[in-house]
Amino acid sequence: MVRTSWKAAAFTSFLVATQAQDSTVSSQYTSPTVYPSPNSTGSGGWDAAYAQAQQFLSQLNVTEKSWMVTGVRGPCVGNIAPIPRLGFGGLCLQDGPAAIRIADYASVFPAGITTASSWDKNFFFQRGAALGEEFRDKGAHVILAPVAGPLGRVALGGRNWEGFSPDPYLTGSTFSLSVEGMQSVGAQACGKHYIGNEQETQRNPSMNDEGETILAISSNIDDRTMHELYLWPFADAVKSGMASVMCSYNRINQTYGCENSKLLNGVLKDELGFQGYVVSDWGATHSGLQSINGGLDMDMPGTIGWTGSASYFGGNITTAVQNGSLAESRLDDMVLRIMTPYYFLRQENYPTVDPSTADLNSFDPAESNYTWNLEGEGSRDVRGNHAQLIHDIAAQSTILLKNTNGTLPLRSPKNIGVFGNDAADLANGLYNYADLNYAASPGYDLGTIAVGGGSGQGRFTTLVAPLEAIKRRAMQDNSVVQYVLSNEVATGSDNPALSGKIYPEPDVCLVFLKTWVSEGYDRNAYEADWNSTQLVTNVTSICSNTVVITHSGGINTMPWADNENVTAILVAHFPGEQSGNSLVSVLYGDVNPSGHLPYTIAAEESDYNTKVINMTIDNNTDPNAWQDDFTEGLLIDYRHFDQEDIEPLFEFGFGLSYTTFNMSSLSVGLSANTTLGQYPANSTIQPGGNPDLYTVLATVSATVSNTGDVYGAAVPQLYVSLPTDSTPEGTPVKVLRGFEKISLAAGASQQVQFPLTRRDLSYWDISAQDWALPADGTPSVQVGWSSRDLPLNGTITWMVGG
Ligand code: BGC
Repeated sequence: MVRTSWKAAAFTSFLVATQAQDSTVSSQYTSPTVYPSPNSTGSGGWDAAYAQAQQFLSQLNVTEKSWMVTGVRGPCVGNIAPIPRLGFGGLCLQDGPAAIRIADYASVFPAGITTASSWDKNFFFQRGAALGEEFRDKGAHVILAPVAGPLGRVALGGRNWEGFSPDPYLTGSTFSLSVEGMQSVGAQACGKHYIGNEQETQRNPSMNDEGETILAISSNIDDRTMHELYLWPFADAVKSGMASVMCSYNRINQTYGCENSKLLNGVLKDELGFQGYVVSDWGATHSGLQSINGGLDMDMPGTIGWTGSASYFGGNITTAVQNGSLAESRLDDMVLRIMTPYYFLRQENYPTVDPSTADLNSFDPAESNYTWNLEGEGSRDVRGNHAQLIHDIAAQSTILLKNTNGTLPLRSPKNIGVFGNDAADLANGLYNYADLNYAASPGYDLGTIAVGGGSGQGRFTTLVAPLEAIKRRAMQDNSVVQYVLSNEVATGSDNPALSGKIYPEPDVCLVFLKTWVSEGYDRNAYEADWNSTQLVTNVTSICSNTVVITHSGGINTMPWADNENVTAILVAHFPGEQSGNSLVSVLYGDVNPSGHLPYTIAAEESDYNTKVINMTIDNNTDPNAWQDDFTEGLLIDYRHFDQEDIEPLFEFGFGLSYTTFNMSSLSVGLSANTTLGQYPANSTIQPGGNPDLYTVLATVSATVSNTGDVYGAAVPQLYVSLPTDSTPEGTPVKVLRGFEKISLAAGASQQVQFPLTRRDLSYWDISAQDWALPADGTPSVQVGWSSRDLPLNGTITWMVGG
């Protein structure tokens, strides 16, 4: 595993105050400065809340204003101090994307990558709302989630599982609907990490042997790629009214994320019309005035790095306003941006912070200089009935990749074999992934993985392991369940030893493979961990009906996929606390699998075109050496496979069902005008950008039928191909621009509609600095079941002029 820093380890070497300008940078990527930071206006329906925020602001002195934008120690992972004089109780910011992390009696939900695999917009919203309820009921005002950075450019990225998919359209949908769900129940969403945080290795600066600071990696991204890939989901979520954005640790085009005025002022606040506040990732602030003028509104955790030394903000802000080096109006806007969503979501009447949070927090609130109201009930059980939702999402996110000989669903097998160190219960407590370098940690080989590590993990209150659920289900059929859980034993070369432990040959063998992934690390292998391929080989040598189930935080290659004794493959990712129950529902057919891959599984590792950069391997001590040029541009994941015509093992969008579907009757309807301006109409910017970008220009429809014998859910997908002769070089062969999940009884049919907006049919024109429809030629559309199975196609015919 490639080692990089997380939390404490990250910040011991955190000494960078300003960014070095090194002439050795050969890259052509730079980030221009854009000043001043645009003021918020309360647009997008926040006007009343904005007026309340102005009223609040008018009562603050400069010192209090500086407190409002600077983190302090307290009960939560991030804290804004109370101002008792004004009845303001402070703000509590908590991780993370799959659970409220620093808490007891809370749920652990399916991870982002799992949820994306459901392709179910209702689940995207409902999961967000359920998470929002748990944060709210624990008194956490701000959820440090959801995640759209990393997008998943690199298959081995350590945090891809916290996010959703390398496809920006799918991520845009999951990300923005998560925000809407979270905020529908009164919690603030903080979308992270803005932007280009595509690998963990050297995400923060470090120091070389000479004591020189080695700068964090610079994600070097061209303007078109920025807009069409990495920014796309953030635009969707800003349109959804996202309260907050977390800027990232890495540099982008040479400038640190939290002082990148082009991306914060120019793109986020101006072009996208973002009305909320930008908060730093923990320790990602490297300057005071430069960051503030660059668009950063809140510094967390309020120290330099996590060293404990005073923040670049705090008292420095008061001094800067007093000596005239910082305009007070900029400070005012920072406070307004923080308080407007607070009032919009009615957080004046919020539950108090659960005292157990303070006990579990590694920052001791007793050390805080502020008085926190921790009077409420402790250890509040906030789970409600979320276990059912967690089960349903995980079951319907499970992806069936192979099913030969009608292996699944199981039909009351009398003799079941279970193999692998991922099958059974955790061996080391319910928050067992605290040790980040998990693979090297003693005793952590045994136990199922249901969530990843770092700030995206959760403390389980309940965890149902697969073996437990299988045994319980098998009792209904009076079946035998035999198992070998040690991979060390099962992968020994002594096959008779394995068969000696298993007698007679099971009707079906279930092999559980796992892949650990954590913030702070990138993976170093594509195959599942713990000698997984040997495990499959050994089990298939004694069992001709083997089902392989993977629990993983990302892409795994599957060298065993074509083994004829591997009769079925299920990809369950990180399912959250109901792991075993959701899997059993799928295995036994209570739930018909309907998950689809949110990424491409390559036949060969070398088929992937993007890699984790690791300069330490080359022993490079140049302070500015860590440069990651995103030269593939738009061509990541399936777009690369399409471009190079590489046959994947399993393609983006693929997933089988226990039933069969058919699709027919494609039609393309144009909205009123067939003569369109190439660029969107000039219009006042609203959250999300120019509102005309979201005007629906065409609607594609098709009819989907369930042609099999059982109820099931289909995921029809629409891909758009822009004409290559009237778009710039680098335009992908096709891109996802629509999907729906529809449940159908056997024999039933339904029409599905895909509205296509102006943005869906445009490319980012770097000269015009705007979205442009291809001037000549007509976009074509293809509809089907995956990026490689698209039976229907049509064209959108219009005139572009003016
Ligand atoms: C992570 C963030 C997280 C923060 C607070 C950082 O190391 O990158 O995602 O929200 O810590 O725990």
